Amino acid sequence: MKTVAIINMKGGCGKTTTAVNMAHILGKHYGKRVLLVDNDKQGNASKAYAVHSYELPSVADILTGETNILEVIRKTEYAFIDVIPANMHLLTANLEIIMNQEIEQQTIFRNQFEKVGSMYDYCIIDCPPDINISVINALVAADEVIIPVKIDGYSLDGMEELEQQIENVKELNPKIKFRGCLVTMFYRTLWKDENGEYQQGVNEQGKEWLKMQKYPVFHTHIRRTPKKVDENTFTDVPLIEYSPGCGASKDYRQFVKEYLGVE
Ligand SMILES: Nc1ncnc2c1ncn2[C@@H]1O[C@H](COP(=O)(O)OP(=O)(O)OP(=O)(O)O)[C@@H](O)[C@H]1O
Ligand SMILES: [Mg+2]
Repeated sequence: MKTVAIINMKGGCGKTTTAVNMAHILGKHYGKRVLLVDNDKQGNASKAYAVHSYELPSVADILTGETNILEVIRKTEYAFIDVIPANMHLLTANLEIIMNQEIEQQTIFRNQFEKVGSMYDYCIIDCPPDINISVINALVAADEVIIPVKIDGYSLDGMEELEQQIENVKELNPKIKFRGCLVTMFYRTLWKDENGEYQQGVNEQGKEWLKMQKYPVFHTHIRRTPKKVDENTFTDVPLIEYSPGCGASKDYRQFVKEYLGVE
């Protein structure tokens, strides 16, 4: 099982949309068996598969060691994807773990996910816009990290801290690899400068800036597709099912192709 953490300290940059649709495409189009882990108390990835609940066990119970991982995994209506859901209990679980100095706080997910490693080809972890103990656990469990980036004036804030966190976990997880930044909500604009020359707008410049920083950047970017993606938040299905032909869905399929290195 390959474990991929989708992470960025910045909120609203497309982490959940990326995690859900990447996971779904790996299963639907490439026949992979996928475990999607919702590691965000907002539970947005759980809602995309209609498995958000306060009655049933969630990722918080894995963190606190109260429940066997097999009891937390929820089946979905798609045979190729199962989900470990999250809800607000993750907040208290994080506090409980950080207060408990007697346990190995950072390796809980890795130890638990290993138990189901033979059941899945991919484990995709949707992280919150934060660094807390459950996020550190995700990094310790991860083989790869993907950072969705929405280009704006603040989008690159926190990148250095995140890079530092990835470096820090190498002591516990030397194999972790920063696979790349994925530019989301991309739009192309052209504007005329004072000489009447057309210049590229903020998104193209941002992509170039990322490359200059030596961050790996996926060639594919995800187009801003406001109507369909916003509508999709009211449905209990991934975007790729709700609107397979919209720009963002097409781009996510292209992104997974690039990620897998297939033609
Ligand atoms: N390609 C896109 N085009 C237009 N809107 C998008 C696109 N991708 C995501 N969005 C919208 O942007 C918002 C944030 O997306 P998403 O929830 O994936 O981000 P996030 O990084 O997971 O947020 P958070 O930090 O709160 O977890 C949502 O309202 C979503 O519908
Ligand atoms: Mg999210």
